[in-house]
Amino acid sequence: MIVETERLQLREFSADDLDSIYELVYADSVVKDAWSGRQGTPEEIKRAFAEEWIAPDSEYGLKALVLKETGSLVGLMGFQRHMSDEDMSWLALESHPGHKVGGDPAFIEAELTYALGRSYWGNGYATEMGEKLVEFGFTSLGIHRIINGVRSNNDRSIGLMRRLGFRIEENNASTPPGINGILDTNIPSVYP
Ligand SMILES: CC(C)(COP(=O)(O)OP(=O)(O)OC[C@H]1O[C@@H](n2cnc3c(N)ncnc32)[C@H](O)[C@@H]1OP(=O)(O)O)[C@@H](O)C(=O)NCCC(=O)NCCS
Repeated sequence: MIVETERLQLREFSADDLDSIYELVYADSVVKDAWSGRQGTPEEIKRAFAEEWIAPDSEYGLKALVLKETGSLVGLMGFQRHMSDEDMSWLALESHPGHKVGGDPAFIEAELTYALGRSYWGNGYATEMGEKLVEFGFTSLGIHRIINGVRSNNDRSIGLMRRLGFRIEENNASTPPGINGILDTNIPSVYP
């Protein structure tokens, strides 16, 4: 899968990206703690990342975000679908009480995941690709609702979601307190 914007390309990860993606989004605790609970040595984290995200044969999952001009890896983005067999007790929608996120296989709910190396923040890269991915998710992947659960103090992620048009509300299940960003512009009339 390849998605392009003016300055950026989103493509599949390859083995050549492993050291760089580790340095960008796992070795820096400011970035890692905001998006991933993955534990382990660098080798363990890289091995798990390779098993999950290199050649996954799916349009879902984490993809490599690169600058078109230089080919430099700046981070990762992608959709992660919430599945009915997943423990979703950490994510409860204030606007849809009682609804189990991902609980209906015919109703596609996904998270838009993103993490950029800190030196690449402040350039509008996540907004630029995020806008394109939201359109891609709704039209090509047929996603019905995008839901991001984040910590209440993640101002940059919340700012990005606001720029992308997400509605921000409380995460009713979250401890410590969290918020949800929700984009539900593609809901079939049979769903609330
Ligand atoms: C969330 C994250 C991707 C946001 O990065 P970001 O750089 O703030 O967002 P963008 O790439 O959209 O850039 C927007 C910033 O670039 C600036 N900018 C510069 N040039 C720009 C341009 N051409 N177009 C748009 N914005 C531009 C904007 O003014 C804005 O700056 P500001 O926040 O100081 O006002 C990043 O902080 C991150 O990776 N965080 C750690 C991981 C994480 O939290 N993931 C989510 C877990 S839920």
